Amino acid sequence: MARIFSGIKPTGSVHLGNLLGALRNWVAMQSEHSAVYCVVDLHALTVPHDPDELRKATLSLSQMLIAVGIDPEQSTLFVQSHLHEHAECAWAMECTAAVGELRRMTQFKDKSDSSDFVSGGLFTYPALQTADILLYDTDQVPVGEDQRQHIELARDIAMRFNSRFGQTFVVPEAVIPATGARVMDLQHPENKMSKSEAGGQGTILLLDDPATIEKKFKRAVTDSETEIRFDPDTKPGVSNLLSILGAVTGQEPAAAASGLNRYGDLKAATAEAVIELLGPIQACYQELTADPAETSRLMTLGANKARTVASATMDRVRTNLGLLQR
Ligand code: AMP
Ligand code: TRP
Repeated sequence: MARIFSGIKPTGSVHLGNLLGALRNWVAMQSEHSAVYCVVDLHALTVPHDPDELRKATLSLSQMLIAVGIDPEQSTLFVQSHLHEHAECAWAMECTAAVGELRRMTQFKDKSDSSDFVSGGLFTYPALQTADILLYDTDQVPVGEDQRQHIELARDIAMRFNSRFGQTFVVPEAVIPATGARVMDLQHPENKMSKSEAGGQGTILLLDDPATIEKKFKRAVTDSETEIRFDPDTKPGVSNLLSILGAVTGQEPAAAASGLNRYGDLKAATAEAVIELLGPIQACYQELTADPAETSRLMTLGANKARTVASATMDRVRTNLGLLQR
């Protein structure tokens, strides 16, 4: 069984784009792979953050991942900082990566251009991500297109390390779902729905109540025509609604239009489908938040499973690097 690894940062609230673009795929992959999923809180430290917010977001995201269907018994689900191996391995990765390689990362360029404080951690972020992946003998990394460059870097680092220090790491590859829904903002359908827009009217949060979801869809931006047609270039708003409706009901976006005649009907149908999808997820999330002992048991279980693999890899890394046996 191929091993897969993926990670998600605990920043902001989880939204419909995360669910339809990534998390649903994580859930689907767990039955046919040996899956390791990580809440990457150390990555959240690379930009200015509020400690209380981070603590809450890490717990909430862990519970949300279980609620959307990640099975903590079948898969390995854990919080990155619960294992010291990630930070430890990241150092070895930083010493294997070249400054020039890190400087070429477009995510670093984008994020450093737009902030006044740029941490060293933001620059070495991809080395930590490489450590996350390589610690678990990962074959495949399911991610969005924006992460392709980071996974290429992880491959290069793994190969370089292996050739310098002997066979140590499995060389991973990215798997980018061709059909993964790209969910756009309901108010600005030319932009991706995002956490930074969260709280805004264009983002559906997984914890939004039915009335809020209805309201947000009702106010969704469409266009001045009346025809329901899937054409993202000229009709971004309507096409986004069709994409969402299609993704939730398991149809192609164009097919989701059938039987709908007015924009109001499309909005209502999409809202209803999303409310129906999120209902059981919200119920499961509420159950978990009401039972901290169970959440804590599941997180400990995940950390222990992860540690078994990560510590064996770290032993190899230490030995092959020439660090003196403890
Ligand atoms: P982020 O919220 O950027 O940390 O992303 C977490 C995961 O959700 C990544 O795998 C993204 O590719 C995915 N994702 C984020 N926003 C969207 C969106 N609007 N549509 C589809 N996938 C998304
Ligand atoms: N950088 C990824 C993102 O922004 C999150 C991440 C951290 C990750 N470590 C990972 C993804 C390892 C895949 C594998 O979405």
